[in-house]
Amino acid sequence: MLLSSFFLVLLFMTRIYSDTFSMIVTYGKPTNFTSYVSFFAISWDDCVIQCYKSMSCVVAHSTVSPISCNLYDVNKIFGVEKLEAADGFLVAFKVMNNQSFCPIGDNPPTFGEGTNHGIVTNDVGKCAYDINFDNTNTWQLTYTAIPDCPYGWTIFTRPTTKWCIQVTGGADITYTQSQALSYCEQLEATLTGLETTNERDFVANTAIDILGPEYPQFAGFWVSGVRKSECYADGWQDIPYCTGTNLQQFSFSDDYLSSYSGYTWDYEQPDRNAVGQWSNCIQIWIRNEAKFPNLTYSLYANGNVDDAVCDGVDYQDYYLRGFACGKLPVIPDGAC
Ligand SMILES: *[C@@H]1O[C@H](CO)[C@@H](O)[C@H](O)[C@H]1NC(C)=O
Ligand SMILES: *[C@@H]1O[C@H](CO)[C@@H](O)[C@H](O)[C@H]1NC(C)=O
Ligand SMILES: *[C@@H]1O[C@H](CO)[C@@H](O)[C@H](O)[C@H]1NC(C)=O
Repeated sequence: MLLSSFFLVLLFMTRIYSDTFSMIVTYGKPTNFTSYVSFFAISWDDCVIQCYKSMSCVVAHSTVSPISCNLYDVNKIFGVEKLEAADGFLVAFKVMNNQSFCPIGDNPPTFGEGTNHGIVTNDVGKCAYDINFDNTNTWQLTYTAIPDCPYGWTIFTRPTTKWCIQVTGGADITYTQSQALSYCEQLEATLTGLETTNERDFVANTAIDILGPEYPQFAGFWVSGVRKSECYADGWQDIPYCTGTNLQQFSFSDDYLSSYSGYTWDYEQPDRNAVGQWSNCIQIWIRNEAKFPNLTYSLYANGNVDDAVCDGVDYQDYYLRGFACGKLPVIPDGAC
């Protein structure tokens, strides 16, 4: 098939990543790369589609005739020389495109701005890249690793950072707060705070799934928050921040909390030493509403927090069955 126009843009509406990408086709030849993979393609379009479908492919390349499809992965290709139709070399760049139409203009893929961008994932992690057209008639590709949550952790957006949360527990296990904390520390994490109701609901609903539909009771899971010593020493009542529902009576091992708005107190909590000893650690309530339809959920909602005895695991009518760890996203070893 002949290319009848100066360039052809293939846009696929399918969303395979969280962003939408386009493949932009023009004339050119990779000049700086470390490796590529040859793919048997029946046509140039087929070659371009293979790159589009591959999570890690950034550039597809072939001679116009015959088709010899080479796919270049992230961090394996750095320079592509711009050529004219008569030179007979096709190249396609994967770029981010949020619009529902194809970008059009002279000098694709960087157009008048001289720059374009993409994000792809290789087996190690996520990489963002810039494509810049320089004065040697070459598109230069540069890569930046994007910190991400490891497998099994869920990413949340906080005001100053992304944050990864993982919930652990089981229907037959109990944990003290210090056991939970040291488990998190083994994962280079800490007990997570609850920055938003979104984080709170994630922890509570994941814990319900972990306990399973047959779990007969409510449960507590540990989250970040330990009462400050002055707030349970003699005279604590005279320290304003130690009283009422004030979250400042607690210190948080989660250093990236700012709004605390996921800490919604259960009815008449915190109650400090109502069980005859101080309840100085914060737990989140796990209550499967489907199993307990008669609860007054406005007062005893799934995901509300409570102060619990730090090394108390057995309250007879419920147990401390798990915890939620949190940590910063990381750039994995060997990422671009
Ligand atoms: C090829 O790309 C690498 C990485 O950007 C760069 O360090 C190197 O100088 C480039 N080589 C040439 C010949 O342009
Ligand atoms: C696409 O949308 C995302 C989020 O809305 C934005 O961060 C990004 O800059 C956009 N990219 C382009 C190329 O417009
Ligand atoms: C729950 O409420 C319904 C309707 O008020 C009542 O019939 C039922 O007995 C209650 N169940 C329990 C376990 O209290």
